[in-house]
Amino acid sequence: MGCPLLRNTLAGLILVLLSKGSDVLGAEFGHLPDNITVLEGESVTLRCRIDEEVTHKAWLNRSNILFTGTDKWSLDKRVTLVNTSNREFSILIDKVQVTDEGPYTCTFQANNKPRITHVYLIVQVPARIVNISKSVSVNEGENVNLYCLAVGRPEPTVTWKDQKYGLVSEGEFLDITEIKRQQAEDYECITHNGVAPPDQQKVRVTVNYPPMITDMKNMPANLGKTAILRCDAMAVPPATFEWYRDDHRPVENDNTLRIKNEKTRSLLLFTNVTEKHFGNYTCFASNRLGSSNASMLLFRPGALQGRGAGLHAGMSAGLCVWVSLSAVLLVKV
Ligand SMILES: *[C@@H]1O[C@H](CO)[C@@H](O)[C@H](O)[C@H]1NC(C)=O
Ligand SMILES: *[C@@H]1O[C@H](CO)[C@@H](O)[C@H](O)[C@H]1NC(C)=O
Ligand SMILES: *[C@@H]1O[C@H](CO)[C@@H](O)[C@H](O)[C@H]1NC(C)=O
Ligand SMILES: *[C@@H]1O[C@H](CO)[C@@H](O)[C@H](O)[C@H]1NC(C)=O
Ligand SMILES: *[C@@H]1O[C@H](CO)[C@@H](O)[C@H](O)[C@H]1NC(C)=O
Ligand SMILES: *[C@@H]1O[C@H](CO)[C@@H](O)[C@H](O)[C@H]1NC(C)=O
Ligand SMILES: *[C@@H]1O[C@H](CO)[C@@H](O)[C@H](O)[C@H]1NC(C)=O
Repeated sequence: MGCPLLRNTLAGLILVLLSKGSDVLGAEFGHLPDNITVLEGESVTLRCRIDEEVTHKAWLNRSNILFTGTDKWSLDKRVTLVNTSNREFSILIDKVQVTDEGPYTCTFQANNKPRITHVYLIVQVPARIVNISKSVSVNEGENVNLYCLAVGRPEPTVTWKDQKYGLVSEGEFLDITEIKRQQAEDYECITHNGVAPPDQQKVRVTVNYPPMITDMKNMPANLGKTAILRCDAMAVPPATFEWYRDDHRPVENDNTLRIKNEKTRSLLLFTNVTEKHFGNYTCFASNRLGSSNASMLLFRPGALQGRGAGLHAGMSAGLCVWVSLSAVLLVKV
């Protein structure tokens, strides 16, 4: 539609009107363009009210002509005229993109005077996490560096939340130096720019450390009755347990003794205590970072003589913890 030469002439005219019109606007109204805010992906109508005596009219995106009258110059299918009448000359932009942001101008000539309306289109994008650290597993004492990259318009804030202590760290990067086992937890990244509800994601940080036997007791036992020896060990990954008798003979399941392994502990269950069960048992807890052992007695109550049971932390883990127990032990004299 229309001949190119005429178009060019018209465009020239409009640009002249536009530059003149700016002066007119500055002098007459002296205000900033209206802002229209729209979410990316939505559609927006840019309104322009006109007089009935209008002879020329056009819409521009920056300095590019979108429409002159009903003649479309823009090749963009998303841009259409709506509600064209002799009172209104508005455009609709469908599926708004970030690149649509900027100044739009409706210009027209009425009663031989150029008139101009500016609108500034602001395109917002909800804050969104686009790249975040994978969950990590490190050994105690190592450094941990987490990142959480977010996008959005306006530029979103990024914070890291420590679930356990509620501490907050600002920014996309969270660095933990020489991590301790107590710092193993889910760290939450939250990004927000006020456009939509915050986006958040968690990163699990696992801290590995060698077993540490935390609880052990010498236990009295009566013949013909049941008895239990327990060995509790903190470890990540969880410890595997083994039990030994005095002479380092492995303890095995039989019809009067059962070994029950749980996630953080191992139990020796005596179903019918006999003479041969009394003695010194060593619990050996290990994982790939090291090991720890502890010894305890199953003793006959009555005849008394003090003797300490030892709790040894495996040297391979670089630990050496001794715990003295005040339990009174039976030893055959
Ligand atoms: C339009 O938005 C800009 C910042 O985005 C602001 O500086 C200006 O004051 C706003 N103008 C109006 C008329 O609201
Ligand atoms: C067109 O104008 C009518 C009445 O003024 C209004 O209700 C309607 O929303 C307008 N349509 C668009 C797409 O702006
Ligand atoms: C407006 O102009 C910008 C820059 O030239 C372009 O990227 C965008 O697609 C245009 N938008 C519309 C709705 O014409
Ligand atoms: C995510 O960000 C990290 C750190 O900036 C980078 O090394 C990695 O290549 C990014 N991954 C993707 C999928 O963009
Ligand atoms: C325990 O073992 C003894 C000797 O072997 C046996 O006489 C007794 O019946 C057993 N008691 C139970 C409750 O099984
Ligand atoms: C039990 O056995 C362990 C390992 O053999 C040993 O170190 C400890 O002294 C023993 N305890 C008692 C009370 O005999
Ligand atoms: C138990 O720990 C002690 C002290 O670290 C170590 O000398 C010993 O070899 C360990 N025992 C076993 C069975 O590993």
